[in-house]
This record gives sequence, structure tokens and C-alpha cells, in this order.
Amino acid sequence: MNCQKIIEIAYQQVKEMPSEGAIATYIPELATVDSDYFGVCLTTNKGEQYTYGDAMIPFSIQSIAKVLSLSFAISLVGEDIWKRIDVEPSGSAFNSLVQLESENGIPRNPLINAGAIVICDILSSHLKNPKTALLEYIQKVANNSEITYCPSIAQSEKDTGYRNYALINFLKSFGNIKNDVDQVIDLYFHLCSVKMNCCQLAQTFGYLANKGKQPQTGQQIVSPSQSKRINAIMQTCGFYDEAGEFAYKVGLPGKSGVGGGIAAILPNQYAISVWSPKLNARGNSFRGMKFLELFTDATQDTVF
Ligand code: DON
Repeated sequence: MNCQKIIEIAYQQVKEMPSEGAIATYIPELATVDSDYFGVCLTTNKGEQYTYGDAMIPFSIQSIAKVLSLSFAISLVGEDIWKRIDVEPSGSAFNSLVQLESENGIPRNPLINAGAIVICDILSSHLKNPKTALLEYIQKVANNSEITYCPSIAQSEKDTGYRNYALINFLKSFGNIKNDVDQVIDLYFHLCSVKMNCCQLAQTFGYLANKGKQPQTGQQIVSPSQSKRINAIMQTCGFYDEAGEFAYKVGLPGKSGVGGGIAAILPNQYAISVWSPKLNARGNSFRGMKFLELFTDATQDTVF
């Protein structure tokens, strides 16, 4: 297949569609981004890279980073993390509180806010300086020491994070937060503030297309079995109440963020990222979803 051509055709088709959706404004700092940006990058396990559009502009990867905190926790603690979080799709919005009440403070999965907050608590219990260690871990996975937290986004999340404060206190009331709530939520806000461009993001997710091994450095980030499990969680839980739609239309394990980014992988072949800030009604990038649907329709190569 001529990958570059397929990317360009799908991109132009999406660009010509009416620009639907709305940029996330509940974190004020996210609302400052030009909503017309649209970038794509695909990196193969063999090291080829294909880019188009605004692929070099850094953006807030938001919840996409929850895959990286999950990886870190799995590599530190192993299967024991599942005593405190489940692996089932929630079918609810990413910041929902409702299931926690009837499910005794056990979040449905590590990719919704409640689950990612418990992961941040697990990291806090196992690391001396969790904020630094998490960033160093992300830099290792990305093979890029320039990746950083964005202080203004982390602060903006903190200033407006009423639901996340509600979630962490609710989790604490069930005994599923072991550390100080302010420290854990600070780690969570920093996790969500990580910035990358599309090429850095595709490169970061390469290990999940490569049985857990970073394609450029050859470092084993997680074991092949852990990589399989993380991909399964992305497939079933990566898009909240739109996970079924993404599996149906795109057919790749992936993860979205309210910054408008999506990262997805085809096992043993490639990682792809797309970024366009306007979100559909379920909080996923409108153009990102459409682009990936057209892309995998054209390549005819998915996990299904
Ligand atoms: O907790 C929040 O509201 C954000 N920091 C993360 C949201 C996010 O990206 C969820 N995703 N689609």
C-alpha cells in the first residue's frame, strides 16, 4: 500500500466535510487552541514515518496519557493492580461518578478518570518522587527527553477540576486511595497535562504495536503479555461510551483525549496518531474518528 497517499486522501476527504463538534472548554487552557488544527503521523515498527498536516505542533494529549500511567503501574506492580480496578468497559462518560457508588469504589477500568486516579495512587505508593518518575518513564517510552508536563494546563485542570476532586474523595471514602488526596490529584493533573506533537505521540505508542518493545531503542517497556492486555483495554475502554463505535468503524485499539488527539495501533505493524481539537458529543475528536475510519477502510488492515 502507498501509505502516504492513503493518509493524504483520507485527510483531504475529512477536511472537506463540514467541520462539526466543539473544542473542550471545561479546562479553560484547552480553549485557547486554534480549533482548525489537523495533523496525522504514522510510524511503523520498521522505522518508517508518514506525516501530514499539523503533525509537528504540540498539543495536550490529556487522557491518552492514561495508557502510559497504566503501563508504568503494570510494570511496577503486575497483576495486583486488578485488585483495585476492573477491566470492563464503563459505557459511561469519562468523568462519571455513578457506577462507583454501586461498585464499592472499584473503577470499571484504568482509562476512565476514576481508574486513572487509582493508578496515580498506586504509583504514589511505589515511587519516591512520583511526578518526576512518571515524566522520566514517559520520556523513556517516547524515546524523547524533551517531553514535559505543561504547568499552565495542569494549573487550569486544578482550578476547575471539581469532578476529579469529587471522584478522588469518593474513592478515598471506599478506601481505594491510600495516599494524600491532594498529592495524588496533583499527579493526575500533571499526567493529563503532558504535551506532544503527532509524531512524538505515534512514536510513543510504537511499543504497543511491537509486543511491548520500544521500536527505536529496543527497550522492553512491558512484556508481550502485558502489551496484549493493555491493547485489549484500549480496544474495549479507550473511547468511553464510544468504544463500541470506534471498534466498529476503525477496528484498532486506541485511546482518545479531550485535547482532540487519538493514538491507535495495529499490532506488529504501526502506531498512528491524529489530532484535531473539535470534539463530538462524546468527547472524542470529530475529525480524528472520521479520519481513522476512512484510513482503515482504505488499508483494509485492522485487528478484525
Ligand atoms: O480529567 C479530566 O477532565 C481531563 N484531565 C482528562 C480528560 C480526558 O482527556 C478524557 N477524555 N477523553
